[in-house]
Amino acid sequence: MGLPACFRGLALHLPDTLILDMRKDLHRVVAIDGPAASGKSSVARELARRLGFAYVNSGAIYRAITWHVLQSAIDPGDTSGVGQALESVTIACDIVNNESRILIDRIDPTDYLHDDRVNEGVSHISGVPRVRSVVVQKMRDYARSHNLVIEGRDIGSVVFPDTPYKFYLNASPEVRLRRRAAQGQRDEITMRDHADSSRLVSPLVVARDAHVIDTSLLTIEGVVNQIIDRLEQKGLHVPS
Ligand code: CDP
Repeated sequence: MGLPACFRGLALHLPDTLILDMRKDLHRVVAIDGPAASGKSSVARELARRLGFAYVNSGAIYRAITWHVLQSAIDPGDTSGVGQALESVTIACDIVNNESRILIDRIDPTDYLHDDRVNEGVSHISGVPRVRSVVVQKMRDYARSHNLVIEGRDIGSVVFPDTPYKFYLNASPEVRLRRRAAQGQRDEITMRDHADSSRLVSPLVVARDAHVIDTSLLTIEGVVNQIIDRLEQKGLHVPS
């Protein structure tokens, strides 16, 4: 969907955030950020269902790129190799059944996104500025056509700084480790948290105006209900 005709020439000279701001009455974005195993995916998916919005998992794109880099036998720590791999790949993002889907050179890598080696490599890949700008663009493209619930690390702080609907989920390290172990995954979440929080580009931070929820002792439904209460207070219509 394009900008109104009167804005088109003007938009060429404006930064992205401002262009999105002009469009914010068209498509709404609920940003759900937080560290690994804080409950983002389950909460964001259920919230999207309740709102009738599309659910977008931004981490899945970083994971899909990591999978592609590994398939190409490139070391995730090799920044220039990663950049070259990006130049020659087609990353297609669309919405199927109200959820984001990613195709890498027309292959759906969903089954491999939580492989141990992807878990190990993804925080290297997500620290590469070129990778980040590709993924941020994909997120903003989604918002041109759909109302969204997006989960990630920088959705409220960097990708959609103008959205009034920002949430940051957290849980104690013990609870998060237990949740990941229950999923049967080998995932060094403490290391990933450290890498994600300390990187130079778009580190994991609590956006200034985000509403923080500790999910340690809450059910998924409990967290979703808290978010919905807050969204309603902010004037967002929630279908009953
Ligand atoms: O499921 P989990 O929270 O463990 O991770 P994820 O959402 O699948 O994200 C995997 C990795 O992608 C994170 O550890 C970050 O390194 C990166 N990521 C990011 O940098 N920015 C985002 N918006 C989303 C994910």
